[in-house]
Amino acid sequence: MAKDKSTFTCTECGGTSARWMGKCPSCNAWNTLIEGSSEPAAGKNRFGSVHASLAPTSEVLPLAQIEAADFERHPTGIDELDRVLGGGMVEGGVVLIGGDPGIGKSTLLLQAVDALQRSGMNTLYVTGEESGAQVAMRSRRLGLPDSQVPVLPEIQLEKILHTLQSRQPGIAIIDSIQTVYSDQLTSAPGSVAQVRECAAHLTRTAKSTGTTIVLVGHVTKEGALAGPRVLEHMVDTVLYFEGDTHSNFRLIRAIKNRFGAVNEIGVFAMTEKGLKGVSNPSAIFLSQHAEPVPGSCVMVTLEGTRPLLVEIQALVDSGGPSPRRLSVGLDRDRLAMLLAVLHRHAGVACMDQDVFVNAVGGVRISEPAADLAVMLAITSSLRGKALPKGFIAFGEVGLAGEVRPAPRGQDRLKEAAKLGFKVAVVPKANAPKKNDKPFEGLTIYPVDRIEEAMQVVRGLD
Ligand code: TYD
Ligand code: MG
Repeated sequence: MAKDKSTFTCTECGGTSARWMGKCPSCNAWNTLIEGSSEPAAGKNRFGSVHASLAPTSEVLPLAQIEAADFERHPTGIDELDRVLGGGMVEGGVVLIGGDPGIGKSTLLLQAVDALQRSGMNTLYVTGEESGAQVAMRSRRLGLPDSQVPVLPEIQLEKILHTLQSRQPGIAIIDSIQTVYSDQLTSAPGSVAQVRECAAHLTRTAKSTGTTIVLVGHVTKEGALAGPRVLEHMVDTVLYFEGDTHSNFRLIRAIKNRFGAVNEIGVFAMTEKGLKGVSNPSAIFLSQHAEPVPGSCVMVTLEGTRPLLVEIQALVDSGGPSPRRLSVGLDRDRLAMLLAVLHRHAGVACMDQDVFVNAVGGVRISEPAADLAVMLAITSSLRGKALPKGFIAFGEVGLAGEVRPAPRGQDRLKEAAKLGFKVAVVPKANAPKKNDKPFEGLTIYPVDRIEEAMQVVRGLD
């Protein structure tokens, strides 16, 4: 097994550094850093060095005496990616990028790593899924035939670690973590044990050498077993690709970020020449019907900092003895709950009907603010009556039939007004107050309960 990299200690002041530098970061003396740390040797225990390598010292100190160094960030220059990362790749940070096969993980990372290499950073692209020739082909396709990114086709962990030690890159991409295996384990490559152990080793290396490591993880179809989920707790940042592979739009969402905000999203369009950022994405998840159709309701979702308009579609159709409830992009348990609330509080019964709901464009909506739009889309489909042109709705619906406010309702309404929406049904607490400036062209119906929302919609027929 390759040994973990130890820290460098200054012979003058005893200060430590995660990597070798000409000048000691603590006392500014030149050529005084020597390899070796003050920590006891980790011994034979393979977990021994985990904690030692998290920080260069293992002394107990009051928080106030620990220097809170700001993270060194390296923007990739791809704005939408930097946005989800919280400003760029962080030195020594470990990023996990998950997503369905073919969604664009390798494409985006090659673009990012090439930009970093061009900015003067030392990079490394470890490919376990594709040959060097395939990666080269992709770089040609991306219009980067002169790319200087060093590529290592390798899947054995020990060899990868060795290359990381010897080249000391600023950033290394491991594409993908599921192909990497360690000699030290008997389980098959791609198994949970292998994936976990390899990721743990790479994480330790990142912390001890200051190399940023990006792990690519496929979301496996057979549940999330050996998929990226098992790694979420050990990395600093978790990004997931969303989007329908049949549409061009891709969304990257930060699920966890120790160095930035979570739920921030980056939006891209897959083009002939790779992924291009979409800086004004709010209207891309609408399926542009010329005339409104039954079973469709637009909502404004606001996860992260940017509002997005997303069309929710529902189809209610007579079902068999055990009717189906299916949802794509929305939570299925929540759908069952909303159907019960519709029945109990608004008198809309779908017990003997199949109910399908879908968020257009492959987006996943986890916020409860989608409830009202889901319920209105279902009712619209059941009645066979379209909602009016330019209609939007948002708001959480509780079990008692109450409509609860969504966070930052004003921003959502502003975006809807900006895009020319005309009618909005929203929770009372989200509606503008008496003295607030009205949203131009947008008539707002504040509601307190689901029955009221239904009444408003019927009144608009
Ligand atoms: P890829 O990055 O290989 O996906 P992943 O690594 O997530 O499995 O992307 C594959 C898809 O993207 C593939 O279907 C081809 C398409 N593509 C483009 O449309 N334009 C391009 O410039 C590139 C490189 C890929
Ligand atoms: Mg790939």
